[in-house]
Amino acid sequence: MADNSLRLGLNIDHVATVRNARGGAYPDPVRAAIMAEEAGVDGITAHLREDRRHIMDTDIEGLMQALTVPLNFEMAATDEMQAIALRHRPHAVCIVPEKREERTTEGGLEVAREENKLAHFIAPLRDAGCRISIFVAADQKQIEAAHRIGADIVELHVGAYCDAHAEGDFDLRDTELASLREMSTYAHSLGLEVHAGHGLTYDCVKPIAAFPEVQELNIGHFLIGEAVFRGLTPAVHEMRRLMDEARS
Ligand code: PXP
Repeated sequence: MADNSLRLGLNIDHVATVRNARGGAYPDPVRAAIMAEEAGVDGITAHLREDRRHIMDTDIEGLMQALTVPLNFEMAATDEMQAIALRHRPHAVCIVPEKREERTTEGGLEVAREENKLAHFIAPLRDAGCRISIFVAADQKQIEAAHRIGADIVELHVGAYCDAHAEGDFDLRDTELASLREMSTYAHSLGLEVHAGHGLTYDCVKPIAAFPEVQELNIGHFLIGEAVFRGLTPAVHEMRRLMDEARS
């Protein structure tokens, strides 16, 4: 893959959200993942939450069996999730904060305050061969802590930038964008691989995709919603096109 390349990871959580609204077996997130793989995505992300509100344990098993692209297994830093990750040994583990009452992952992980605990938590996962990604805000303190504990990747939470863009608050959007740009350069300078995600849409993806240090975008909710109108493959292709345009 060329140095300038930017990977697209599809988060399939919300295929499972629709399935779970009725219970039963459809729409099947594993089928969506296979279709997305055929459409050219570079990876699949799935977040197994403590409350199993969308992805379920059987989905992770199905994804591990079916996928040829890497699985980015998103999870909270709990003993239960560590045991599941160690059983499956996905390509990457993305550690995120998780609150039962939140609708979605609201912020980045507090790495600096939990440094020792997290360092111990990720050690067996690293030993098992998983790449370690930490979902962080664009905050130098958190990025430095992620680096110190030995993470391979930081995924920058771009949600505040996306929200400001959607709400038309362009001053705030530009402020958020500037700190994301600065922190992606900083994280890269420490030797961390830089990913970004949360809230990205066709409308706001390009400025983030244009950051030269960002190597992967993880996008879910918008693309799964867009698939209702266009179909999953065209929805993915349009995102890919915009990313390539931003990068060229
Ligand atoms: N990356 C991480 C770490 C996330 O927690 C999420 C949301 O689950 C995403 C990417 C995808 O965000 P969205 O569904 O808003 O595109």
